[in-house]
Amino acid sequence: MIKLTDQEFKDLYTFVKSNYGINLEKKRQLIESRMNSVLADKGFKNYTDYLKFVNSNPNEITVVLNKLTTNHTYFLREPEHFDFLTKTILPEIKVTNDATKEMRIWSAGCSTGEEAYTTIMTLKDFFGMDRWDYRILATDISTHVMESAKVGVYSPESIANIPKAWEKYFKKTPDDLYLLSDEIKREVIFRKLNLMDSFSFKKPFDLIFCRNVMIYFDQPTKDKLVNKYYDVLKPGGYLFIGHSETISRNATKFEYVQPSIYRKGK
Ligand SMILES: C[S@@+](CC[C@H](N)C(=O)[O-])C[C@H]1O[C@@H](n2cnc3c(N)ncnc32)[C@H](O)[C@@H]1O
Repeated sequence: MIKLTDQEFKDLYTFVKSNYGINLEKKRQLIESRMNSVLADKGFKNYTDYLKFVNSNPNEITVVLNKLTTNHTYFLREPEHFDFLTKTILPEIKVTNDATKEMRIWSAGCSTGEEAYTTIMTLKDFFGMDRWDYRILATDISTHVMESAKVGVYSPESIANIPKAWEKYFKKTPDDLYLLSDEIKREVIFRKLNLMDSFSFKKPFDLIFCRNVMIYFDQPTKDKLVNKYYDVLKPGGYLFIGHSETISRNATKFEYVQPSIYRKGK
């Protein structure tokens, strides 16, 4: 195993934190175990030389991010959010957006796509044959996870929580995995986006998911990001965060709705 020196460790975590918000200060071993094969495959004997290589090859940053981000997710994770979507948000939207029949949703930190695809299935259940335009933007800094999302092949564990009625969206592959149907896949647009960058969207969102992403950020980074979400939501729009996450109430204009659900005032 190639070990990090104290200085190399500091250089690497400072770079990742200042550019991507992710705090790896207590993750020295995780970095060493995940990065070892990258250095070994490319013939590097130490991190100093590898970090010089990263500095002069911007594409290599993608390799580092693909390795160091934590991407675990699954279908219907934190189901209370999808309940709230069906019972509270969608009936409201049906009335307020009736003229355009359009709904804009963003899955920020989408990983391998399960959150966005779960949302599409929930919307399909709700709207049925009613023709609404509800495509979802799904973004991440890791391109690797989004490539996998676009292919849409999932393990039995990943779909273990779905209701029976959604099984029709999956086809079992010869190696016992599950391929998601095009009917669902085509409703999600995947884009690379670093949440630390400034946002520029043509239209505001009705709903933003940013679940289990901010756990890696420190408080000032979280506060700044939450304010950026506020600015790109419609008045009355909702923000879902992960159940284990909190927003510092005095740093935000969001109204608290219930644990992990916030709303922009109308
Ligand atoms: C654990 S996954 C969350 C997936 C899904 N939202 C959920 O709740 O199951 C966290 C994702 O956040 C992404 N992420 C972390 N920092 C990011 C940043 N600065 N910009 C965009 N995405 C980021 C990671 O690449 C990872 O795919």
